[in-house]
Amino acid sequence: KEDQFISELLSKMTLEEKIGQTNLRGTSSRTKMLPAALKDAVRNGEIGAFLNVMNLDYVDELQRIAVEESPNGIPLIFSRDVIHGFKTIFPIPLGMAASWDAEVAKKSSEIAAYEASAVGIRWTFAPMLDISRDSRWGRIAESPGEDPYLASVLGKAYVEGFQGEDLSDSTKIAACAKHFIGYGAGIGGRDYNTVDMSDPLLRNVYLPPFEAALNAGAATVMTSFNEINGIPASGNEFLLKQVLREELGFDGFVVSDWDSTKEMIAHGFAKNNKHAAELSAVAGMDMEMTSKSYEKHLKELITEGKFSEVELDEFVKNILRVKFRLGLFKNPYRNKDHTGNFYAENHLTEAKKAAIKSTVLLKNNNAILPLNTNSKVAIIGPLANAPHEQLGTWTFDGEKEYTITPLDVFKEKSSSFIFEKGLTHSRDKTKKGFKSASKAAKQADVILFFGGEEAILSGEAHSRANIDLPGVQEELINELSKLDKPLVLVIMAGRPISVSNILDKTDAVLMAWHPGTMGGPALHDIIYGVAEPEGRLPVSWPKTAGQLPYFYNHKNTGRPASDDQFVGIDDIPIQAWQSSLGNDSHYLDAGFTPQFPFGYGLSYSKFEYKNLSVSKDTINFNEDLTVKVTVTNTGNRASKDIVQLYTQDVVGSITRPVKELKRFQHVSLKPGESKEVSFTISSEDLKFVNHKLVNAAEAGDFNIWVGQHALSGLKGSFYLK
Ligand code: IFM
Repeated sequence: KEDQFISELLSKMTLEEKIGQTNLRGTSSRTKMLPAALKDAVRNGEIGAFLNVMNLDYVDELQRIAVEESPNGIPLIFSRDVIHGFKTIFPIPLGMAASWDAEVAKKSSEIAAYEASAVGIRWTFAPMLDISRDSRWGRIAESPGEDPYLASVLGKAYVEGFQGEDLSDSTKIAACAKHFIGYGAGIGGRDYNTVDMSDPLLRNVYLPPFEAALNAGAATVMTSFNEINGIPASGNEFLLKQVLREELGFDGFVVSDWDSTKEMIAHGFAKNNKHAAELSAVAGMDMEMTSKSYEKHLKELITEGKFSEVELDEFVKNILRVKFRLGLFKNPYRNKDHTGNFYAENHLTEAKKAAIKSTVLLKNNNAILPLNTNSKVAIIGPLANAPHEQLGTWTFDGEKEYTITPLDVFKEKSSSFIFEKGLTHSRDKTKKGFKSASKAAKQADVILFFGGEEAILSGEAHSRANIDLPGVQEELINELSKLDKPLVLVIMAGRPISVSNILDKTDAVLMAWHPGTMGGPALHDIIYGVAEPEGRLPVSWPKTAGQLPYFYNHKNTGRPASDDQFVGIDDIPIQAWQSSLGNDSHYLDAGFTPQFPFGYGLSYSKFEYKNLSVSKDTINFNEDLTVKVTVTNTGNRASKDIVQLYTQDVVGSITRPVKELKRFQHVSLKPGESKEVSFTISSEDLKFVNHKLVNAAEAGDFNIWVGQHALSGLKGSFYLK
């Protein structure tokens, strides 16, 4: 039915209208009236989709013209970056990734879709699935972190949330798996930078989240800004035709990133705009975002035989297919009865839940957290009451007036506190506020320092070379630590922040990321133990930017740093994480280990892992292996842990990572309670792509660990034959 409808429609379309479908146009909602030329363009069928039209009258009018007055009445799609919420803002995606929770991710995108669709948006540019191994990169904030397995679990969940079971439901929106591909691997963590990577790396690390999102039905894909192995992604035939269409079987449409077709000129790949259009078209990019190269040159390129109408037909079919699946041919108009229930109670509840699940407890000496409600607290720092900043990057529509900050909650609950900001903002370099901050701290039993980075210090084009706390935050923390009062550092930031200079000045550290609309209530609950921080790091946390890129699933080198680095950290003070000395692969001044490893996060209780059992010494291909471990809550409060299973393929036809996450499970345990946690894996989970591009598991020895993070765990082994 879908194919027949599309073919019939296509057969009626002129060349101009076909080109029109490939045109994604932006327009400013600030214009007083819709420009007549824009209305004419829609009337003539020259535009297929819009982004960022936020004036509802314009949305309705443009769609009316498309449906009622354009030659074939083909509806427009309205799109927008709805990244981590529309009005109700959830934690930034890197924070969401710290939840390691598919249900929470799915719920967040379901709510985002529900709210956004009320203003006519039916297509979002999310989820971002770029594996990020470098915290200098500003867009790590938007990423699912460094691990392909975790990113795949989350990518699938986001798509399911945005699109639901039936994309034609007017409260659902089409997802866009972006940025295809390798965008997170830019040299030096600098945004837009060159990417060079081997095929095995591409396929083993960067591709899996996209594959998962496409398997979940992601309707669209966006190309990335970067070049990869010498060819910009928006003109990369190998990626778009062979990998995306042939290998992954994608049947939705591919859109370029903003101006990225035209930008192939600056890359030194296209001679001019016409050549850029040709390169993108031949590569198989269906829709162009904003730069108008297709609009201006496709017709001419077809006349000159450099591109064919038959090929263009494929683009148009891909686009019409998504419009069909969105139900736009039946219901093109915004559903005016659907209000979106912005900031509804249940939306806020889910956002708060997500913020709790995202917050990672990095340090908690002497169980200083949760705080006793009787303690008098000094609230200090630039992020304690920064309603816009705690929403994080890519927040176009969430209003700061609805944000609840930590300070708001302290006021509302009239907890015993005194507030002194100390610094006007995170980059404040003056020490004017130090005195009053110290004075306030002196009057309190505990100091809560809310530091980090404002939203603008991460995100697109906001990479940093230095990832320390900006401004004089470290100095202020130093000053406060001299008062000999317990000091809790709460970080709000879009990336891991190097804390090596001040970690020993703190008693506890909470990473809240940019926690969104409900960050304040979530943090207040955590601080007082009404809830516990449930997050685990989705990226390795470096000691210093000089260690970057850093990732746990690295290769071993011929001279690996000694094994004794792989020890559990709960029993060892953080300062004792020394690097090994000798001729092995480490930094003299930063060692080999990160500050905090991938998967790490403390809870308010303690867990013990015992009795690892691996069901067989040897398994055949496609035979299941069951791995069991007993987890006991040895503390005195009910608590949750995330049990993580890692494997190592000891010898491979190409060298293999020292560890790879293969499974994880959430457990909730009462004090003293034990549970047997069981995982099943098979050779399917051990597959990788080698230098000959063969995707297969290889016979041989495997190690297996079950533990609380990438550098801990009980170890077992098995043989695959
Ligand atoms: O979706 C974004 C993309 O991630 C970066 N460039 C602009 C696009 C549309 O706003």
